[in-house]
Amino acid sequence: MIIGLIGFGKVNQNLFKLIKANDIDFITSLEDRSDKTCENIKKSGIQVLDTFEEVAIKSDILFCATSPKTALDIAQKYGKHCRGTYLDLNNISPETTLKISEYVEDFVDGAIIGKIDSENPILYISGQSCHKLMFLNEFIDTRKISDSVGDAAILKMLRSTYTKTLSALLIESQKLAKKHDLEDEFFDVLSLTEGDEFKGKSLSRIENTLSNSKRKSEELEEIISYFKNEDLTMVKAALKKLSQ
Ligand SMILES: NC(=O)c1ccc[n+]([C@@H]2O[C@H](COP(=O)([O-])OP(=O)(O)OC[C@H]3O[C@@H](n4cnc5c(N)ncnc54)[C@H](OP(=O)(O)O)[C@@H]3O)[C@@H](O)[C@H]2O)c1
Repeated sequence: MIIGLIGFGKVNQNLFKLIKANDIDFITSLEDRSDKTCENIKKSGIQVLDTFEEVAIKSDILFCATSPKTALDIAQKYGKHCRGTYLDLNNISPETTLKISEYVEDFVDGAIIGKIDSENPILYISGQSCHKLMFLNEFIDTRKISDSVGDAAILKMLRSTYTKTLSALLIESQKLAKKHDLEDEFFDVLSLTEGDEFKGKSLSRIENTLSNSKRKSEELEEIISYFKNEDLTMVKAALKKLSQ
């Protein structure tokens, strides 16, 4: 089996590392790529073809993990050449996912949950061809959501609705606790009900949110736009908080 990679950043590099079997070969291309990506490709020892079009033609499965902005263009350009299953792993909206499915015949919508550079991220997939990708479960925890393309993207958004809103609340509560010189006590008392790991996880969540507040705000804006007819009082408050 041949797996083609479009994008050789954190996501696809980690999948290349995790999916190891004698009957699986990986291919990619250096076409128009940055020095950093070319260097990573050369260092990895993956087989390199001249163009991504060739990669698409030769692949039984094509993984696309580039950026949310490029996902649709890439699907338009290479989807028609892909004779196998096309798995998109970009953080894109359910609408973009559905648009991609118009260009790609055998399409699966994917979401990686958990730290991407860890050894145990979880891959959620949706679409009628999911069964063709379930063998990946041997290498990475792979879970089918449904036959409907777009469900993986919606699940990712639902998760963000909770985690990003919670992060905004944590930032506010921690600041208040600090002001009263009770930060340790604040985390101790919450750990009684939320578990021993609460403090460490909360501090990491706060730091991550503050250092990526622009991207997190954009993701909250996308959620608000996608679920525009729903009650999103808390999500809107979180966006206001992160925009400050
Ligand atoms: N990192 C995470 O934790 C995570 C988790 C889940 C999902 N995602 C999603 O997965 C996608 C990739 O994330 P990442 O962290 O792997 O990104 P990354 O480290 O920034 O890598 C992106 C890779 O895509 C390549 N690329 C960009 N445009 C391309 C194009 N038109 N054709 C071919 N290759 C192209 C880049 O090459 P150049 O260097 O040449 O531009 C680079 O190798 C994103 O959409 C992200 O939202 C990320």
